[in-house]
Amino acid sequence: MKLLVTGGAGFVGSVATRMLLDAGHEVVVLDDLRTGHREALAPDAIHVEAGIHDAASVLTPQAGFDGVLHFAALIAAGESMVAPEKYWHNNTVGSLALLDAVRAAGVPRLVFSSTAAVYGNPTELPIPETAAKAPTNTYGATKLAVDMALTSEAIGHGLAAVSLRYFNVAGAHLDGDIALGERHDPETHLIPIALEVAAERREKLQLFGDDYPTTDGTCVRDYIHVADLARAHLLALDVARAGQHRVYNLGNGNGFTNRQVVEVVREVTGHPVPVEVAPRREGDPAELVASSALARAELGWEPRKPTLHDMVTDAWAFYRTRLVDRR
Ligand SMILES: NC(=O)c1ccc[n+]([C@@H]2O[C@H](COP(=O)([O-])OP(=O)(O)OC[C@H]3O[C@@H](n4cnc5c(N)ncnc54)[C@H](O)[C@@H]3O)[C@@H](O)[C@H]2O)c1
Repeated sequence: MKLLVTGGAGFVGSVATRMLLDAGHEVVVLDDLRTGHREALAPDAIHVEAGIHDAASVLTPQAGFDGVLHFAALIAAGESMVAPEKYWHNNTVGSLALLDAVRAAGVPRLVFSSTAAVYGNPTELPIPETAAKAPTNTYGATKLAVDMALTSEAIGHGLAAVSLRYFNVAGAHLDGDIALGERHDPETHLIPIALEVAAERREKLQLFGDDYPTTDGTCVRDYIHVADLARAHLLALDVARAGQHRVYNLGNGNGFTNRQVVEVVREVTGHPVPVEVAPRREGDPAELVASSALARAELGWEPRKPTLHDMVTDAWAFYRTRLVDRR
């Protein structure tokens, strides 16, 4: 297929691009590099350095795209609470512009990076796709709005749409000279921050809240390896059907407290990783654990690297390639 990947210079989009190319697809990456990295771009994909608001310049009716994988977004939940307009404009208005271009060009299918953040504080665990959607942060709300627009687009215009609701993505894709991993700036995700501490680039790790109703008081999250997640996108392209909007949660179904994650980082890196307890962050749900039963049944998806140990080991290997680069 000829595919447009938005956000292909980012963490998940770069790994998915690599897998799509390896599977024989033709890929054009649309990424304005606002948070992505030029080095993460696949040399065998065409890169258009532009924003999703200008998607119509690439997604022309003549270009003959078979599908879009839409990863581009701003992703920091904390920032979305203090600069909400940035998130609405980029994530929601930008996605609507992309949908206009998809419709005008007659592109038949689209796979969207949705998020566990659409559920807010879940009323049932593990969380099925049918659970109530009540985001506790603006980031989650901007993504839920796009999910709803996709449902409308499928009904109104026959788009074959799939939303993949990722839980916490971790790990890295390492293959020969290729090293693709997590590099957000500022970093807000627990594992890469803990690795910065292990590499002595940061003094200590802040744990935001230790008074949640969980086993050790810290938040519980479900982690999924980025390679397992990227593979789910290829499967999603296969099950997309005209006029339907399918939604799949993607996580491993195992929750780990923040303290348990830090313990695994200590094991893998051999560093004590000092921690400091800080106040809760606005909008952080206590516990997010996926039911991925639907993805397993309908996509035939099975995680190959379900353990936190594997994810941290790969993330650490990626982090160390960057330390070598910086010398
Ligand atoms: N990383 C996670 O744990 C996680 C969890 C749930 C959902 N997601 C979703 O997955 C997707 C990818 O996340 P990531 O961790 O790879 O993020 P990332 O920040 O590494 O990548 C996002 C990419 O999108 C690009 N981008 C952003 N806005 C753009 C715009 N308007 N036009 C063009 N390019 C733009 C950035 O330059 C960057 O390359 C996002 O949609 C995010 O909401 C991620």
